[in-house]
Amino acid sequence: MNHEGLAQLLRCPACGSEMRYRPRVYSYCCDGRVLHTYRVKDQIADLVHGEPEGRQKRVNKAFERIAGRMYEKNVTGATAFDRFMSWLMWGTSKFIPLLFELLDSVASDCEPGYFLDIPVGTGVFTAGEYSLQPNLDFIAADYNRKMLEEAFEKVLAEDFGNVMLVRTDVRSLPFADSSFSGILTMNGFGSFPEPARALDELARVLKPNGKMAGSVYIRGERFLTDLLLGRMGSWFGLFSRPIYKEQEFLAELEARGINNVVTRKIKSIMFFSGRKADPQASAAETLETADLIVLDAQPASEVPLPDATQ
Ligand SMILES: C[S@@+](CC[C@H](N)C(=O)[O-])C[C@H]1O[C@@H](n2cnc3c(N)ncnc32)[C@H](O)[C@@H]1O
Repeated sequence: MNHEGLAQLLRCPACGSEMRYRPRVYSYCCDGRVLHTYRVKDQIADLVHGEPEGRQKRVNKAFERIAGRMYEKNVTGATAFDRFMSWLMWGTSKFIPLLFELLDSVASDCEPGYFLDIPVGTGVFTAGEYSLQPNLDFIAADYNRKMLEEAFEKVLAEDFGNVMLVRTDVRSLPFADSSFSGILTMNGFGSFPEPARALDELARVLKPNGKMAGSVYIRGERFLTDLLLGRMGSWFGLFSRPIYKEQEFLAELEARGINNVVTRKIKSIMFFSGRKADPQASAAETLETADLIVLDAQPASEVPLPDATQ
């Protein structure tokens, strides 16, 4: 994929009109009555309109502070200290290997086309997986520029050719409706300000029968996690309220037509996967047949799983 290819998917985040790439000025420009331009810097297309405000400003600052090695050590449990911190925050570090498998298990079950990885963060869990999916073109997106720069280093090192990096706000995605065959949203819902708006946008840009999967921090599973992350984490800007309970999150997915959701819960982290309803397809065709690999092992939710025999 190149800038011209990406431009075909884009809609101006300010006015919604179509966009084109102008190589002479390294910018995407919209076709609206007022010209909005968005720069590409260091191969990162900056599609954010305006400056961060309110809650987003706080979240952005928090990730600015920890972007890079410190973040990656912490989330991958690199040292004994990091694993201890993971245990303190989450009561376990068993979910970490599943984060490395998640993109592959979702992407390998998607139709060829475009795939959105948001928030990509530093790409620590996903950047190494893009090259394994030659049928997909990946948009790796995040709000935070520093996090994206870290992800870019990984993409550059591997020279994958099927990845574009985009700075964007999940609450107003600069993509046309039904653009993506698949979407991964890993560890984002705890941080996104206005998670309901984020879900609206993710459902809008997903194709009918497209797959949406991810991992999400859910409230009400472990007292210490809710105290340290839900309360203290949100003071520091790393987490944003409201943080959903399991049933609340599933209801939000269902309300946006994400069906046949399967889940696997490890303490306060819930992995989920579902498909967007396809009005054209018969009910039988929309039933999930190939569940997320990491979910297959142990569907631990109380949520009734779809009966594949129906
Ligand atoms: C906990 S990190 C997860 C990153 C990556 N998926 C991972 O698991 O390492 C949360 C990310 O959400 C991003 N983020 C916060 N608000 C956002 C928004 N409005 N739009 C897009 N990304 C956002 C942050 O910049 C941060 O990189």
